Amino acid sequence: MKRVVCPGSFDPITFGHLDIVERASKMFDEVVIAVLVNQTKSSLFTVAERIEMIQEVTVQFPNVKVDSWSGLLVDYCVEKEIPIIVKGLRAVTDFDYELQMSQINFQLKGIETLFMSTAPAHSFLSSSLVKEIASYQGDVSSYIPASLVSRLQERLAHVASTRLN
Ligand code: PNS
Repeated sequence: MKRVVCPGSFDPITFGHLDIVERASKMFDEVVIAVLVNQTKSSLFTVAERIEMIQEVTVQFPNVKVDSWSGLLVDYCVEKEIPIIVKGLRAVTDFDYELQMSQINFQLKGIETLFMSTAPAHSFLSSSLVKEIASYQGDVSSYIPASLVSRLQERLAHVASTRLN
């Protein structure tokens, strides 16, 4: 059985992530979406909320599972016996960092990384941009699933109101 992991912060999951997950689910027996902590970013949703949202929008893919991990990605891979990481590359700007991560992950525990090119329609898309657009009441319905739009708007409104008080 060929299993791969799609890791990320998914804060929140976007159509760009979903495109990679869907394509990977056609190539491998099982795809595990792992919600990990990115120490360089602060998150809007808790890990439990992100898992719930991902489960909701991947329910149509029977071989896609959702999990979380708070340590090194390679330790997750070793513990779960998943030898391959799948990542989407949006543009050359992603490349340096992703190459470095893939090399260190291979050097640390022999875990391979496969890169898939993001669909051109999603090449500019990131969770951070989606949050920024939504925080100014912009329309994000082309970037994240409909069921997540109101959830995102509510959370941003809550954050804004607690900041004012
Ligand atoms: O969606 P993101 O924020 O680009 O995902 C980055 C993520 C979470 C996959 C990456 O930061 C990660 O793997 N974090 C876990 C810790 C780790 O293994 N770091 C890389 C080796 S130093």
